[in-house]
Amino acid sequence: MHIAIINGPNLNMLGTREPEVYGHQTFEQYLAKLIEKFKSIEFHYFQSNIEGELIDELQKRATDCQGIILNAAAYTHTSVGLGDAVSSISTPVVEVHISNIYAREAYRHHSFLTGKCQGVISGLGLTSYELAVIYLLSMHE
Ligand code: DQA
Repeated sequence: MHIAIINGPNLNMLGTREPEVYGHQTFEQYLAKLIEKFKSIEFHYFQSNIEGELIDELQKRATDCQGIILNAAAYTHTSVGLGDAVSSISTPVVEVHISNIYAREAYRHHSFLTGKCQGVISGLGLTSYELAVIYLLSMHE
């Protein structure tokens, strides 16, 4: 099974970015653990700070992955284009957030993605990604 993990803006700064909110691990450190834990899965990891590149990656991975885990970060709350991209593909997309967006500023409470995704996992730290993997795996059992 091929699963894409697509991370949006500023998530390349995990580990040093607001560690009280996002923790001390880099995504690369976490990804190494995911790869070790889910040996049957081939992960395709992509991060960009550029909205159009995230849309391009969603379209590309819709053709060669059976599931997509998307943390669009700040674009979650602003991007009609990313929402449209999720609507345009039939590959299941799980929206994830490291922090609990509903416990934060009001402008983070709205997502242009949630209504287009299979579901959303928010606030469980980096474990949010692992839970999304478990869900996508369960779709293929
Ligand atoms: C985030 C939450 C967003 O509101 C924020 O802009 C991010 C990260 C999260 O994973 O908690 O950059 O998506």
